Amino acid sequence: MGLAEEVRGLSQAVLTLDKATIRFGGLFAVRDVSFSIQSGDLFGLIGPNGAGKTTCFNLITGVYKPTAGVVKFGDTVLNGQAPNRICEMGIARTFQNIRLFSSMSALENVVVAGSLRQKSSFISALSYLPSAIKETGEIRARALELLKVMDLEDIADVRSCDLPYGKQRRLEIARAMATDPTLLLLDEPAAGMNPQESEQLMRTVRRIRDEFGKTVLLIEHDMKFVMNLCERIVVLDHGVEIASGGPAEIRNNPKVIEAYLGEAV
Ligand SMILES: Nc1ncnc2c1ncn2[C@@H]1O[C@H](COP(=O)(O)OP(=O)(O)OP(=O)(O)O)[C@@H](O)[C@H]1O
Ligand SMILES: [Mg+2]
Repeated sequence: MGLAEEVRGLSQAVLTLDKATIRFGGLFAVRDVSFSIQSGDLFGLIGPNGAGKTTCFNLITGVYKPTAGVVKFGDTVLNGQAPNRICEMGIARTFQNIRLFSSMSALENVVVAGSLRQKSSFISALSYLPSAIKETGEIRARALELLKVMDLEDIADVRSCDLPYGKQRRLEIARAMATDPTLLLLDEPAAGMNPQESEQLMRTVRRIRDEFGKTVLLIEHDMKFVMNLCERIVVLDHGVEIASGGPAEIRNNPKVIEAYLGEAV
């Protein structure tokens, strides 16, 4: 075990789901799901369509309140907290269906998200106090830096709706990073990407963990992407956890193979 792994092993859980459950009418979308993510993890959440993966993200980010069970960020219970509060605490996400501000430029999309963490009050920003102006400049500089990390610096001024799909997905990640989260949730980041784009994204996500120290939880159907990138994986099927472990264990788990019914895992 290397030093990085040892440190990670000793560290406190960043996120804990303890028997997290949500029911919509008669359907348990997520039922008694328990896992924990340590600081610095690159963690995968997989499963067939309708397994409850996005619903888990919605439970973590406060879109839904669990019907039962607990979701914790460090020691803080998230159940019932508002999404904006959870974002301020340090959890950012991207969406399965891209949700950018379509008429804004790429840079503006990232700047808006960066402003969430702005320290100056709204009033001081309005009155153009030097501190507010300085901070706005810093947010812009940081946004440009994030576009560079995501290989998007050449399209900073392009409206997000005019960008090809793969670049929109990367822009969503830049925007999530702009809130400087501790935990980054990515919902199908490689969806619709060609093999070259998803290779490049794999490198970038690894860099986000290694260089920026982010903890990453990602949902993905692209098995090559998950198996090459994630060190730990939880598998859901019909709302329940059917397996957890490292990529090799998951790939050879009969329950997982059955859930995917012959799909290459
Ligand atoms: N707001 C809701 N109301 C009713 N049912 C819902 C709601 N949200 C999710 N569901 C149901 O919960 C189940 C899990 O959905 P979820 O979107 O979490 O699946 P998923 O694993 O993300 O699937 P996919 O891979 O297709 O994105 C589905 O049966 C879905 O229809
Ligand atoms: Mg989903």
